[in-house]
Amino acid sequence: MPVICNEAAQQFTLRAKNTDYVLKVAPCGYLAHVYFGPSVPDADLTYLLRLGENPWTPEQNDRDRAVYMDTLPFEFPCYGLGDYRESAFRISAPDGTSTCDLRYKSYRVYSGKPRLEGLPATFATEESPCETLEIVLLDEYAGLEATLIYTAFEKLDVITRSVIIKNVGEQPCGLARVYSACVDFDTDKFDMMTLNGSWARERAVERAPLHHGKQSVDSLRGESSHQNNPFAALCARNADEDSGEVFGFNFVYSGNFKLQAEVTQHKKTRFIMGINDTDFGWLLDPGESFTAPEVVMVHSSEGLGGMSRTFHDLYRGNLIRGEYRDKRRPILINNWEATYFNFNTEKLISIAREASKLGIEMLVMDDGWFGHRDSDSSSLGDWFVYEKKLGTSLRYLVDEVNKLGMKFGIWFEPEMISPDSDLYRAHPDWAIQVKGRPLTRCRDQYVLDYSRKDVRDYVYSMMRGILDSANIEYIKWDMNRQLTEVGSSALPPERQKELWHRYVLGVYELMGRLTEDYPHILLENCSGGGARFDPGMLYFSPQIWCSDDTDAIERLKIQYGTSMCYPCSAMGAHVSDCPNHTVGRTTPFETRGHVAMVGTFGYELDVTKISQYERDLIPGQIAEFNKYNALVRTGDQYRIGNMFEDNSFDAFMFVAKDKSEALFEFVQVLGRPNQRSRRIMLKGLDPEAYYYDEQKPEVKLSGAALMNCGINIGGIWGDYKSLLIHFIRV
Ligand code: GLA
Repeated sequence: MPVICNEAAQQFTLRAKNTDYVLKVAPCGYLAHVYFGPSVPDADLTYLLRLGENPWTPEQNDRDRAVYMDTLPFEFPCYGLGDYRESAFRISAPDGTSTCDLRYKSYRVYSGKPRLEGLPATFATEESPCETLEIVLLDEYAGLEATLIYTAFEKLDVITRSVIIKNVGEQPCGLARVYSACVDFDTDKFDMMTLNGSWARERAVERAPLHHGKQSVDSLRGESSHQNNPFAALCARNADEDSGEVFGFNFVYSGNFKLQAEVTQHKKTRFIMGINDTDFGWLLDPGESFTAPEVVMVHSSEGLGGMSRTFHDLYRGNLIRGEYRDKRRPILINNWEATYFNFNTEKLISIAREASKLGIEMLVMDDGWFGHRDSDSSSLGDWFVYEKKLGTSLRYLVDEVNKLGMKFGIWFEPEMISPDSDLYRAHPDWAIQVKGRPLTRCRDQYVLDYSRKDVRDYVYSMMRGILDSANIEYIKWDMNRQLTEVGSSALPPERQKELWHRYVLGVYELMGRLTEDYPHILLENCSGGGARFDPGMLYFSPQIWCSDDTDAIERLKIQYGTSMCYPCSAMGAHVSDCPNHTVGRTTPFETRGHVAMVGTFGYELDVTKISQYERDLIPGQIAEFNKYNALVRTGDQYRIGNMFEDNSFDAFMFVAKDKSEALFEFVQVLGRPNQRSRRIMLKGLDPEAYYYDEQKPEVKLSGAALMNCGINIGGIWGDYKSLLIHFIRV
């Protein structure tokens, strides 16, 4: 029973696998947060609210209700009533005021999980069922109803949350802030971990103790961003990779977000997550509703590693969709780092010919095949084939690639418009802009107003023209700039602040159409590398390009940070040429293969130009990828190294769910003088079973020995060297 209702105590318990999340209707009808942590058997936890201790509880003494308001742990705190911590909800009422007051009205429980209108969200499956609790709160003065939607997953330590606001009154009402989740913890003894970075170094891990006041990360860039990911973990001070209590939060959204931990005067922590309220507004007419995106909340008693494995299971099973969800992805070769804009059909076919001989399965034609695009300064929006450059039709190119036994994939950047394009010349108002102000260029391009259906319809009809003209089996959907001068020529002044969110809804709508109309196409998302690596995108595409930084050593850090909440099966990772185009580093081809192999795997180089030695290694790499992919894609990931703390090595493992085999990968980043070997403790094995290294079947060691005593990694000579060990249960 994942939802337990104690009518007498007006208390609701959401019971995920080993986790309880408890809420209760408190005096005056406010919905209070009672508990979030390991499951407990008790039916009534009312004492945790300390109502008896509080002399200002309204029932005893309503003289100072403001004090009650400022101390009660709220599930969905409203602005303006004396709770001076960050509120989750603020309105812009017709009279210009902001105060709102939501109180308990009703609840209902049902099995499964509702879809969120227009938004990606996790879902129930037969193998991983869930139950939902909806609590309706009402502000009778504003005529607004808030339905808080909570879902508990039976087999995972996951609770999800979202909110629907409905105008049940007679006047329009503005929404100024609708966060999706607020959790009040009774302690401030947390470290907050977030994932931050920049172009080419996305999702670097940072962890710091909380202190008084507000600590937040956010995006106001129109996408989830390279700079901050919509993920945070609150870690008990003693929690580490393998033990201790961790609460993970991830926002299923791809636009502006805010997450914040606030340590209050009484040393409690309020955590909030939702759409960034800066420059946000939504006008709700009578009868209309607004749906806030979903927050995924994970509880782990096994440190960060346990948290990550729960996120991975949830996203692989209950978020990612489509026919590639559970399939090995085709091994691709992408021409971006091989040719940049300088290619034609002949060049692409020469790459494909060589690649096909080596076992590569798909050619992806990246940027530069449309309009008159020879550099990044033109043609976005002109989605017709640049035949003069290719020298042939697209159909011819694709057919030739198919004849080599390879699939064909193509790059689009559907949300963008170049000032130098037929589209912009015909429809300058289709770019996002503030009328009368100059537009800021970024990569020489503007952003299309995806709040407009006519704009989306036009772009989609152009894309369809391309997709229907040849046998295209993969799309890379890119997004290479962030938003500025956010204004729409199609929205009235009182709705301009809706554009940020309407833009994201428009992107989702179009991706939804594309994936429904072309269910066999493999969609990979990308945004200047990994600026939109978020669960919202994972709902539409089973893989996302992790970063434009393809250097194997940098990738260790990027893939480590990404793995905090996203599964390896979703990380776009390729072997590229050296010196690496982003950092200039030269690493062994073998190591580049090992690092890319724990992602979706592919190549991003001119295979006709690399050395014969490297070319000869490719068939072996492909065989290795094929051998281990199922284990990497479906197994449990255990991080061992952490280059943010010790950049001399990295190590990690993938263990089969039934513990019958494990893949261990080690990368010696910097060789260490005067040290023969390094002891590494393995993780995740069955302690009672015996395992052997496939290369040395005569030596058998118990899982207990491998995990508690470890293995010696020695004899590696040089920097950037890597090795794989495949352990098999006896
Ligand atoms: C972005 C992507 C790259 C490549 C280029 C093309 O930077 O991340 O992989 O597709 O755009 O312009």
